[in-house]
Amino acid sequence: MKVDVLLGLQWGDEGKGKVVDVLTPRYDVVARFQGGPNAGHTLEFEGKKFVLRSIPSGIFQHGQTNIIGNGVVLDPVLFKEEAVSLEESGVELKKVLKISKKAHLIMPTHRLLDAANEAKKGASKIGTTGKGIGPTYTDKVSRNGLRVGDIYNNFEEKYAVAKAKHIETLQMLGASVDLSELEPKWFDAIKYLSEFEIIDSEHYINNLLKDGKSVLCEGAQGTMLDVDFGSYPFVTSSNTICAGACVGLGVAPNKIGEVFGIFKAYCTRVGSGPFPTELFDETGRKIRDIGHEYGAVTGRERRCGWIDLVALKYAIMLNGVTQLIMMKSDVLDTFETIKACVAYEINGETVTEFPFSVEGNVKPVYKELPGWNVDMTSIKSEDEFPVEFSNYIKFLEAELNVPITILSVGPDRAQTIVRK
Ligand code: GDP
Ligand code: IMO
Ligand code: MG
Repeated sequence: MKVDVLLGLQWGDEGKGKVVDVLTPRYDVVARFQGGPNAGHTLEFEGKKFVLRSIPSGIFQHGQTNIIGNGVVLDPVLFKEEAVSLEESGVELKKVLKISKKAHLIMPTHRLLDAANEAKKGASKIGTTGKGIGPTYTDKVSRNGLRVGDIYNNFEEKYAVAKAKHIETLQMLGASVDLSELEPKWFDAIKYLSEFEIIDSEHYINNLLKDGKSVLCEGAQGTMLDVDFGSYPFVTSSNTICAGACVGLGVAPNKIGEVFGIFKAYCTRVGSGPFPTELFDETGRKIRDIGHEYGAVTGRERRCGWIDLVALKYAIMLNGVTQLIMMKSDVLDTFETIKACVAYEINGETVTEFPFSVEGNVKPVYKELPGWNVDMTSIKSEDEFPVEFSNYIKFLEAELNVPITILSVGPDRAQTIVRK
């Protein structure tokens, strides 16, 4: 069998968690391959709402195995908080969740470093989630990181060496270092973490594939936040694109099957960085209000704008998307006119290929489409689509050259229309 990958095509928060939950019954295993508790994946069903950060979104369906892969960075304290609250709500997490030995650990000092780096950057700060993501991946690449598998081998010594390096840097940055509360909590959470099944996840997943089992990989963040292809330096510190699933789980490229690319019917972004179609007017505020566009992790206001097909085509290309999933079209239910950016005008030139930089002088070129003005939130099948909505989908499919196979018209699991 092959592994299918579901990932965000914009700046994150596309609705990945919701759709992973919807698709889980089709799979034997769900696996996260990158990112960490910077993610906030929201699921709603049967009147309940959950926000997952490090734990895959496949834990609520039929007892499938969920894996935190080697490409993930894990904060034991936040993991414990998340896991305990799930256990309290009845999820038998220790039975369904396995964690890679090679996943890197976020230390208390990584969080302090994240804050100190941001403070140092001042006005040009990235606007990170403050979860220590950048410093942890930095340590991974500079070969100073601590991994989950290290828990069993000279752990305290390895921890002390890494911590000493961090403290040196923090002092250079002029940051104060008080670990008196953070450290005992962290070690206590490490103990809790070690109660889970810690595995060689690359072997585990490849053996499953050999046995004909199916795997869904759950992306975090979005393509436009990818460390290589996003709007650098305003990006996260991992490869969020499909290739990240190969590296973050130990799955060979020829094992990738379907690539589900997920996008909102408009765009949002949290934190700093360029955003060509951002709206600063009443329309932007209306999208934010109706779409409840506030960060699932930080509560920060999300910046809102029209859909950007230049960026979306770029994301589809980078990921080899085979099926598109459109989210939150219901947020546009009351709009008379809907705009889609089909090109950028940069210094008088029309550009349709996503350029090196979209900072500064980028003017979106819009195509206007008539809105459907129908409450879509209880629509169950394609036959009920208003004609304007069907035309909007046809327009997007023609532009993007990939079929839209799933549509989401509300936050609940049930508000999902599968087209094939
Ligand atoms: P993720 O990070 O990609 O999993 O997305 P988030 O959970 O951060 O943000 C998506 C938000 O939109 C959550 O609050 C979801 O409950 C909500 N949501 C998901 N799909 C829909 C939809 O089709 N319509 C509406 N109105 N809300 C949705
Ligand atoms: P999900 O998985 C939206 C953004 C941050 C910041 C930049 C770098 O829920 O879609 P980091 O803490 O990763 O170093 O921050 O990336 N960011 C996200 N934005 N959704 C996310 O995750 C994000 N994870 C990080 O706001 O701009
Ligand atoms: Mg999110």
